[in-house]
Amino acid sequence: MTNPTQSEKDRVVIFDTTLRDGEQCPGATMTHEEKLAVAELLDAMGVDIIEAGFPIASEGDFAAVHEIAKRSKNAVICGLSRASLKDIDRCAEAIKPAKRRRIHTFLSTSPVHMKWKLQKEPHEVFEMVIAQVTRARSHTDDVEWSAEDGTRTEHDFLCRCVEAAINAGATTINIPDTVGYTVPEEYAALFRMVRERVPNSDNARFSVHCHDDIGMAVANSLAGVSGGARQIECTINGIGERAGNAALEEVVMAMKVRNDVLPFWTGVDATMLTRASKLVAAATSFPVQYNKAIVGRNAFAHESGIHQDGMLKNAQTYEIMTPESVGVKQTSLVMGKHSGRHAFAHKLEELGYHLAANQLEDAFVRFKALADKKKQIYDEDIEALVDEEIAHAHDRIKVLSLTVIAGTMGPQSATLSLDIDGKHVTTQSTGNGPVDAIFKAIRELVPHEAKLELYQVHAVTEGTDAQAEVSVRLSENGRAVTAKGADPDTLVASAKAYLGALNKLLSRRSKGNADERRIHSTDFG
Ligand code: KIV
Ligand code: ZN
Repeated sequence: MTNPTQSEKDRVVIFDTTLRDGEQCPGATMTHEEKLAVAELLDAMGVDIIEAGFPIASEGDFAAVHEIAKRSKNAVICGLSRASLKDIDRCAEAIKPAKRRRIHTFLSTSPVHMKWKLQKEPHEVFEMVIAQVTRARSHTDDVEWSAEDGTRTEHDFLCRCVEAAINAGATTINIPDTVGYTVPEEYAALFRMVRERVPNSDNARFSVHCHDDIGMAVANSLAGVSGGARQIECTINGIGERAGNAALEEVVMAMKVRNDVLPFWTGVDATMLTRASKLVAAATSFPVQYNKAIVGRNAFAHESGIHQDGMLKNAQTYEIMTPESVGVKQTSLVMGKHSGRHAFAHKLEELGYHLAANQLEDAFVRFKALADKKKQIYDEDIEALVDEEIAHAHDRIKVLSLTVIAGTMGPQSATLSLDIDGKHVTTQSTGNGPVDAIFKAIRELVPHEAKLELYQVHAVTEGTDAQAEVSVRLSENGRAVTAKGADPDTLVASAKAYLGALNKLLSRRSKGNADERRIHSTDFG
């Protein structure tokens, strides 16, 4: 919804690539259902374009893009493809059901990429740009072309490629800072230069796509907009290759809070940012750093006496935006063991969840079990519980029971029963500490070679009876998966997290190793 002071020329289109560049980073793999849930929320919050995946990369990517395309209500659904015509056709097939669809096709243009990665001469790359855009245009009117490693591309060649891409029908031109190398002034000047020098530049929208290798992704993205770009490619929580991409919540709020110097606007409903951050953190099991801008747990916390005193007198002393403006609600003590199904369903709606009837029923049963153990149930407890429900709904292996003997006398032991595809199995193991004993028991019941890369615990809320949230990352054949488990008992949460990661590995294997065929976006085919 525009207001009278917002003109179309200052409108910045938000292109979310959480499900493509974000999902591509090590350990951030999402299941099919998680991708659908993230896409649904992005669509509801007013993201203009959802880059839903890289369809040629795997059967799983294709299926997710295809399903998201079917379900999207408002957003343009976009798929990524390299320059090969096979890639582009596969991408077109995946996005076909969408009401509005885009093909995003890319090719490297920098000397280092052309020489070493593509092993092609500039004139060959130039011809490929025309061919790839032409092919994409044969499928849809909405075509984005990216000059990969654009910020390290020689200016004359970049301008020639951009002009050719627009002539071939590209409607959006993206100049990515693929390696997170540029700085704000330089990136702004790059857009000004290209827009001035390329004769048909008025026929396309320019786009920024920044990586955070030296911590400048958001600043660079905003500078690109000042230089004339009107699309920002970004991800929730800034997840993405290496150090990540520009964080959607940060670019959106920067333009809102500093509209005096960044006089641009977007169609994103900022009050949904916190919810989106939590959903993506749960789906990827990538914890959000506590001091992360906008969505970090401490982003609106005031600890020092001087700050608290100022806040009590007037919140504007230390707050440049209100917590409510980004969807942070006061932690409220809401539910207890006497709360019924109806109140629980209402609470979920309030927190932004729309569960299917069977998921709601399962979540309610787990809520009741939690309320029996924990006196005070906060919103965060319910979120942890439901996020886990969504993440583990299709797990083949589940914890049935766990008994642990721990303490100073050692060795610590764990007796674990699992449900594996409906079959119940039990074992007992000892270990160097209770967590080690549990993980050994899991290995006995589900033999596997995956390596434990990360084990991390944090409390969902305050208090000694708080739920523990454990993150576990496992890697197998060079691919990593991360999962979370939540429970008032840290050891049970540990078992759930480990099994969550194992379930993700199993689901990948059962897709006929489809994901093993995944291709890194920067590969060339
Ligand atoms: O970082 C990058 O260059 C990309 C392209 C595929 C746009 O992700
Ligand atoms: Zn990227």
